Amino acid sequence: MRHYSTDRIDLRSDTVTQPTPAMREAMHTAAVGDDVLGDDPTVSQLERRVAEMCGKEAALFVPSGTMSNAIALRCHTSPGDEIITAKNSHIYIYEGGGYAALCGASVALVDVHGGLMRPEDVQGAIRKQAGSLSHYPDGTLVCVENTSNRGGGACYPQTTLDEIAAVAKANNCAVHMDGARIFNASVATNTPLDRMVREYDSISICLSKGLGAPIGSVLVGSRTFIAQAHRWRKMFGGGMRQAGMLAAAGLHALDHHVERMVEDHSRATQLASSINAINGFTVDLSTVETNMVYFTSEIPATKVMDALATSGIDVLDIGPHSCRIVVHLHVTDEDVSEVIRAFKNFA
Ligand SMILES: Cc1ncc(COP(=O)(O)O)c(C=O)c1O
Repeated sequence: MRHYSTDRIDLRSDTVTQPTPAMREAMHTAAVGDDVLGDDPTVSQLERRVAEMCGKEAALFVPSGTMSNAIALRCHTSPGDEIITAKNSHIYIYEGGGYAALCGASVALVDVHGGLMRPEDVQGAIRKQAGSLSHYPDGTLVCVENTSNRGGGACYPQTTLDEIAAVAKANNCAVHMDGARIFNASVATNTPLDRMVREYDSISICLSKGLGAPIGSVLVGSRTFIAQAHRWRKMFGGGMRQAGMLAAAGLHALDHHVERMVEDHSRATQLASSINAINGFTVDLSTVETNMVYFTSEIPATKVMDALATSGIDVLDIGPHSCRIVVHLHVTDEDVSEVIRAFKNFA
């Protein structure tokens, strides 16, 4: 569905979506209050609802996924600690080194296979100060990203999620999930959220990606964790006043934009197999489980982007010979046919 007029098919990210008329109406009529004073009923409703969906005690509404992850990392670590995460993870690649600047933490990078970490590699990456004559930092937090963005939108199998959490716990590490696209993972694997995150201490969930809200993320965890997160949100400047208008968009998205993600996933699969069938383009089809298609091209990515742009199609280059397509709320079947037609012009 697309409710606004544009001559572009924008596949750069699922963050490009615009609030639908119904979402705008929900925002317009939302009951609001000063959320820094704890008075906003719509924010409280959203926080309760997301916490309940995750089977956790509490949640906190924050402006962005980056802030949500930053708060979680800051709560779980002290300066001099080390965070164990995938070498392709968003918190490592795309969050401006916040783990270093805001937490004073280093990162131990874990190799990925099919975009995802293996429990034994997580185990191998955890270092402890104790027993190292103080040579090592203290590995205290394991972070898992589900779906894995740079992993092509791949989903962790539940057994792997549970095993990674067990490795973390056996090593006295907390375990955080960057669930920016957790609803895509839940829909694609048919796993309820509370089961998926059962063994996780904290979860960051974006409302402004596949769910189609304009702004906002929700950080979820125990009551004690969220109380600590509330203080860091204040210090990071993320306390918002009449934020109910934004929370209302999130609540509307939870009601109307979750089940429909199967459509995004099937359009992405269609695009992936069609692009992979064209000479000079390759897609690792095994990673295409949700709304993303990463492809490599024999010709430079900039040339692919420029040629598609002249046909009104926008994709994102992520390397000299690789680009990303993300399917979202506004991408229609006609758009998919148009994109496939444009790719065939390269053949
Ligand atoms: C996996 C992942 N985590 C976190 C974020 C950060 O979200 P935001 O752009 O809201 O800061 C993104 C954004 O693309 C993401 O893909």
